[in-house]
Amino acid sequence: PLAQPGGLDAPPSYRVADRYAAVERPRPGHFDNTPDSDPSVAEVREWGAAITSRVASSTLGERGVREARLTSATQLTTVLDRVRTAGTSWAQWSGSARGAVLHAIGDALEANRAALVEVMAAEAGKTIDQADPEVSEAIDFAHFYGELAGQLDEVDGAAFSPAALTLVTPPWNFPVAIPAGSTLAALAAGSAVVLKPAPPAERCGAVLASVIETALDAAGAPADVLAFVQVAEDDLGKQLIAAPQVDRVILTGAYETAELFRSFRPDLPLLAETSGKNAIIVTPSADLDLAVKDVVASAFGHAGQKCSAASLVVLVGSVATSRRFRSQLLDAVSSLTVGYPTDPTTQMGPVIEPATGKLLEGLTTLGTGETWAVQPKRLDETGQLWSPGVRDGVRRGSAFHRTEYFGPILGIMTASTLDEAIDIVNEVDYGLTSGLHSLDASEIGTWLEHIQAGNLYVNRGITGAIVRRQPFGGWKKSAVGAGTKAGGLNYLLGLGSWTSATASS
Ligand code: SER
Repeated sequence: PLAQPGGLDAPPSYRVADRYAAVERPRPGHFDNTPDSDPSVAEVREWGAAITSRVASSTLGERGVREARLTSATQLTTVLDRVRTAGTSWAQWSGSARGAVLHAIGDALEANRAALVEVMAAEAGKTIDQADPEVSEAIDFAHFYGELAGQLDEVDGAAFSPAALTLVTPPWNFPVAIPAGSTLAALAAGSAVVLKPAPPAERCGAVLASVIETALDAAGAPADVLAFVQVAEDDLGKQLIAAPQVDRVILTGAYETAELFRSFRPDLPLLAETSGKNAIIVTPSADLDLAVKDVVASAFGHAGQKCSAASLVVLVGSVATSRRFRSQLLDAVSSLTVGYPTDPTTQMGPVIEPATGKLLEGLTTLGTGETWAVQPKRLDETGQLWSPGVRDGVRRGSAFHRTEYFGPILGIMTASTLDEAIDIVNEVDYGLTSGLHSLDASEIGTWLEHIQAGNLYVNRGITGAIVRRQPFGGWKKSAVGAGTKAGGLNYLLGLGSWTSATASS
């Protein structure tokens, strides 16, 4: 049996067989939890076996996925011109006609769920229980933006003009849900799309693009309304970002990347969701068992490689001074099964590339006053498999308090009061997700009023925003540009411009 946190009966989320039941993710099209349709243990094992047998051999070019590497400025210009032209005719379709195509794309994603899970596990190191809800999220984006596209037709006295060409530059950590969300939003708005995947997750991007393209073709959408391109992040990459044919860029990535993009083209119309340094506050009134479970899941899901991940937990008052929370937390973290996704018992997978730089420092070097409550260990030759780490005694204003490490390390901070804890959290430059564990209504009210973050979660983990129910996006240095939230009602509005019908006629 798997180790159980805190010596308690294992909550369902710690047992592989039942982990799906704990995933707070709606199934496709329902925007609601319907556990009946969660994958069975047999399906999970089947996918595990499929992944094992295909990881080694699968390359770009297989199963209808084409290599689409651009190597010259001429090729780049040709693609951009073609896509822009396609965008002009796509924009003539009514919103509801585009919406119908989006719904068909949602169905195609569902039909290809296993292939998408497989490529995420193989290439991006996602465990199956992380990859599967990511496909659900992509499907939800398709149906949600499909519905919104129809509404674009119904606004009285105003006309919406989509950007002709949207460039989508997603990250590698959600290599299906995020590129799907950005691409499908732009398509729903009536824009053509160039999708450039992050290099560590190019195959994921290619499989996703091929599913979407096949559905677009079947629906008779203009050829080239979506182009999947691989471009090295060198001069050619720079030319792509700065190209005059590009009307909008949807970036999800580090804050520094958004700044870099702006340095290539200062007037770049950018919608960027950027970095986070997110915390969960736990007060003495909290359900501590639940808090432990949510902190562990938020900090170590996908090995902490989420902009939404918890990398700090701030313990208030007696939670800080008594042993109970810490000892349960440390037991739970130490009991996580670390491995590759090919083993279905793996609870925490690898980091995507061998840890170097800031991440390696975070995994190996303590700041002043800090101690390892659980010391991370390098578990294999590759430098990708690390056991999770927890550092205690993180001081206010220290490097660990303020820096995003993007890996499996959690820092413990303490505060005498909730107000102090809120100040600690607000002191960081970012404001993406934030969590509170408290069963006291006035504490919840105070926290909601003062905490500075885009996505706030009470008595829940802080990752895994649900499309429409929890539109996703931050403020401060967690967002650059338009600031509309992915999976929310306003998102499409940032992908074009409005004119009054009188002015445009
Ligand atoms: N939307 C993801 C989450 O909520 C992060 O990109 O975890």
